[in-house]
Amino acid sequence: MANRALIILLLLLLTTGGRSDLIFYYENKCSYPVWLAARPSIGDSDPERGPNTLEIFSMPDQWTGSIWARTKCSFNASYYFSCETGDCGSGLKECQNPPPALPVTLLNFEIKPSFVSYEVSLNHGHNIPVRIQPDGGSLLGEVGPCPVVDCIEAISDVCPSPLVAQNSDGRYIGCYSACDEFKDPKYCCTGNYSSPGACQPNDYSKTFKRLCKLAHTYPGDNDPPTYKCTGATRYNITFCPF
Ligand SMILES: *[C@@H]1O[C@H](CO)[C@@H](O)[C@H](O)[C@H]1NC(C)=O
Ligand SMILES: *[C@@H]1O[C@H](CO)[C@@H](O)[C@H](O)[C@H]1NC(C)=O
Ligand SMILES: *[C@@H]1O[C@H](CO)[C@@H](O)[C@H](O)[C@H]1NC(C)=O
Repeated sequence: MANRALIILLLLLLTTGGRSDLIFYYENKCSYPVWLAARPSIGDSDPERGPNTLEIFSMPDQWTGSIWARTKCSFNASYYFSCETGDCGSGLKECQNPPPALPVTLLNFEIKPSFVSYEVSLNHGHNIPVRIQPDGGSLLGEVGPCPVVDCIEAISDVCPSPLVAQNSDGRYIGCYSACDEFKDPKYCCTGNYSSPGACQPNDYSKTFKRLCKLAHTYPGDNDPPTYKCTGATRYNITFCPF
């Protein structure tokens, strides 16, 4: 009986995985707080990151998903939590996974034991400047260091007017992607536009690309390809890194 319990415990430990040696340094250099969110959850129960704070966070050893920053979050009088951008729609402070309110700059990761792939994606627009900086490591199967990827330029200055997102006071809060704004298969690379040859950059994505060369700016954007980094045990994720 005791043996059986031990085996079940061992199985549980094996199947639930655990924390890895992979550390993310979340640094918020913005002059305002942000609330981190991740889908699926990374178990971050206290997602508020004040201005000029650094949080050292141990990531799951296998995880594929998106991380983003929510802005201007607060509870209302009935304790419903919501944010101006990146809101999760659940009313709770810890993000509970429904699609985030757009626009939002997404940091997409695939964490595997042998590599970590990472990208900054503007496929759902842009709400905040971000940088992903691997500390050491090398590109999987290639020589050369793992590149920094970011989108830190002033997207607000170039955001085409149909894509501008404003809050209830009419203030700029971000820039939508053409796909989210127009729901056009041409911009979303769906339907007749889903094949690699038909999924092409458009004037809106090109506007993003001019400022953020290393970010992915439309669904088929593979220039540069999503980097796969091996050997880096630490990644700096910086919001407003300037
Ligand atoms: C708080 O927000 C929720 C969701 O929008 C809404 O249902 C609720 O009525 C709000 N409460 C107050 C006091 O405004
Ligand atoms: C990552 O951030 C830490 C803390 O700010 C800093 O000491 C370190 O130099 C950064 N690493 C890289 C590769 O920039
Ligand atoms: C896809 O292309 C075909 C052939 O050009 C056309 O008949 C069809 O209407 C298109 N479908 C959509 C959803 O645009």
